[in-house]
Amino acid sequence: MTRKWWHDKVAYQIYPKSFYDSNGDGIGDIPGIISKLDYLQDLGVDIIWLSPCYPSPLADQGYDISDYYNIDPRFGTLADMDRLIAEAKKRNMYILMDLVVNHCSDEHEWFQKACEDPDGKYGNFFYLRDKKEGELPTNWRSYFGGPVWEDLPGTNKQYLHVFHKKQPDLNWENPEVREEVYKNINWWLDRGLGGFRIDAIINIKKAFPFQNYEPDREDGLCSIKAMLKEAKGIGEFLGEMRDRTFKKYDAFSVGEVFDEKPEELPDFIGDNGYFSSMFDFNETIFGQSSKGWYDAKTITPDDYKRCCFESQKKVGDVGFLSNIIENHDEPRGVSRYIPEGDCCPKSKKLLAALNFMLRGLPFIYQGQELGMENVPFASIDEIDDISTKDEYQVALDAGLTPEEALHVAAKYSRDNARTPMQWSDKAHAGFTTGTPWLKVNPNYTSINVSAQMEDPDSVRSFYKKLIALRKDPAYKETVVYGALKPLWEEQHNLMAYSRKADKTLYVIGNYQKEEQTVTLLSKPLKVLLNNYPELFIDEQGIIRLQGYQVLVLEM
Ligand code: GLC
Ligand code: CA
Repeated sequence: MTRKWWHDKVAYQIYPKSFYDSNGDGIGDIPGIISKLDYLQDLGVDIIWLSPCYPSPLADQGYDISDYYNIDPRFGTLADMDRLIAEAKKRNMYILMDLVVNHCSDEHEWFQKACEDPDGKYGNFFYLRDKKEGELPTNWRSYFGGPVWEDLPGTNKQYLHVFHKKQPDLNWENPEVREEVYKNINWWLDRGLGGFRIDAIINIKKAFPFQNYEPDREDGLCSIKAMLKEAKGIGEFLGEMRDRTFKKYDAFSVGEVFDEKPEELPDFIGDNGYFSSMFDFNETIFGQSSKGWYDAKTITPDDYKRCCFESQKKVGDVGFLSNIIENHDEPRGVSRYIPEGDCCPKSKKLLAALNFMLRGLPFIYQGQELGMENVPFASIDEIDDISTKDEYQVALDAGLTPEEALHVAAKYSRDNARTPMQWSDKAHAGFTTGTPWLKVNPNYTSINVSAQMEDPDSVRSFYKKLIALRKDPAYKETVVYGALKPLWEEQHNLMAYSRKADKTLYVIGNYQKEEQTVTLLSKPLKVLLNNYPELFIDEQGIIRLQGYQVLVLEM
């Protein structure tokens, strides 16, 4: 594997709308991010991925872009963005933007022109089909519910949208579309961007000819995945994009990729892969049901361990996965991966260490470093996210009571991760002097940056230690490149593995509140991390692990 500049880095995702509001309008913004760069540098972050801040009607919170060459005035100006890139550079940090090019917004000029002249140049930027009364071109269900087909305003045609109807899919088969995408990527890279996170990219290749697939719910529609499974040849697009853009700049790219086959991994993230890296979603997709969130299975510690090890085994040393505990599309990881009732600083640190020490590039989502938790939503009206609203309805349609449906919606809602960052115990968690666009988690009085900065034993301080270990010249080679091998793999509620390069490290986590023991063959040379003040180890090398104790040992 060729070594790359980004391998030893630590990445952090910012959801701009909810990070820090500099002007009191209740919406986070780029000047707000700039003012917090020192906070991120103090934590040890090198790469910052910003969720979209381009002009957008915000139907899907910015994942519906109406102008790829600007910044939405709510988030700032292009000059602010340039300043952010420059200020980051001064701190040896890199900025990634979000590349959302499976679709644009229906308010993008291309789409407006397609409506005016569907048979002209811009009609071919989208997937248009003649409208037939009482019949849709295909029976595919969009990710956010309902059919993927919508009337093209002012015409007798319909257009395809695999996400929301305000997110029309771009026709990647059209070389002119691809040229536009490459031009835009290079334009941003020329401004000094470090690279991109690439949104929903597996959707750019459709299966032709368009046809119906077996319906999987009573609505007579089928999951969009049925079509994607049949789509062949996405590699041609992705390889072309790499060669025409990222490769020339040695830029970092991380793909949002789902359902790839193990044998495709080298193509995606091998030495000359389409992307530098791609996210590991094996844990987040665990337990999903084709019926909807209401039918999803809760993940257990043993499931979590299996998911992580499965991914690690699959990738081996072919490339680097990007490891996450959560992102803006998921509930908070501590509320999901820690068994109900056990969420506390100790267990949060355990989850942090087990994930962070895996081989790959760690991504931290804003607030994760504080152990921010899911939100007690009291009503569906407190939720803004379109996909949660759809899943709430799906649950009701399946016969759940409104209380049960709200419980399901709140458990998996993307808004759990989108509430304002908790900076202090002051009004609105110190996020804004105005009224925040989305409610603040009421636990901000106890979980917030100011409190945790001062406390050497806080979750944030623990993250800081994890990051410092990754960067420590003595351990870096092992933490970054060391091979991973599961330890005591069959032991219930224990997740442990070794990392081996020039040094050998053991990461051992007791993933339950009861004590349990493991037996080491030799005494550790050093305890590098421990979320308890003490370590109980006897002469025979038997370690008595306390509830949710996690250790990083040098062997
Ligand atoms: C990705 C984004 C998500 C968005 C979707 C459509 O999955 O992460 O937030 O809704 O793509 O762009
Ligand atoms: Ca603002």
